[in-house]
Amino acid sequence: MTSASRKKLRAAVMVSGRGSNLQALLDAASAPDYPASIDLVVSNVPNVQALERAEKAGIRTEVVPHRDFDSRETFEREISAVLESASPDLICQAGFMRILTPWFIERWDAQLINIHPSLLPAFPGLKTHERALEAGVRLHGCTVHLVHTEVDSGPILGQAAVPVMPDDDANSLAERVLQAEHLLYPTCLKLIGEGKIQIGSDDARLAANLCDGTQVLLNPDAV
Ligand code: GAR
Repeated sequence: MTSASRKKLRAAVMVSGRGSNLQALLDAASAPDYPASIDLVVSNVPNVQALERAEKAGIRTEVVPHRDFDSRETFEREISAVLESASPDLICQAGFMRILTPWFIERWDAQLINIHPSLLPAFPGLKTHERALEAGVRLHGCTVHLVHTEVDSGPILGQAAVPVMPDDDANSLAERVLQAEHLLYPTCLKLIGEGKIQIGSDDARLAANLCDGTQVLLNPDAV
């Protein structure tokens, strides 16, 4: 299938805050030949910057405040129904800071991806930059992965690495990693849209040799 004849992948994005990764996806998707469209942005927190970014880009936004629900399950059923209304092919978590139950993850099996600020499986969870500095690693970075039920687990779609500098603190390291996130996430979404990363329930495969000047390290294991 040529890129001209292939239909764009329909993506929804789940956010909770600042939305700089959402912005990177929106900027990429604004190019006419980008193979994915962002059709919906859903936040679990009202009035966050991510929602402003989406509105500015003319993208439909929805807020499903988790605080309004008496259980995780009722919250997730509502957010899932909102997502279903956009019929997404793929859901991208971009700074979505709620842990999801197995019910939600299985509902969106092989359609739910996340960006995490470390080179998984190192440093799952929070405070990744502090922990990377404490551990003394010389390389740090970010990972886009398929979401499985264990927190920050699931097949790796792409990774970008950055050096740790001798004078880094958590803030300077976070900023360097964030710049890499802004390259990695749109690149992964592009490769998925082009069918070059293929996602199944239990694995993700790179369908082509991607050592073509792409500015991120992409799962060198699978290339
Ligand atoms: C990003 O660094 C993202 O990787 C991280 O939150 C930040 C959101 O920033 N996500 C997680 O820690 C998920 N476990 P953003 O709202 O500006 O994209």
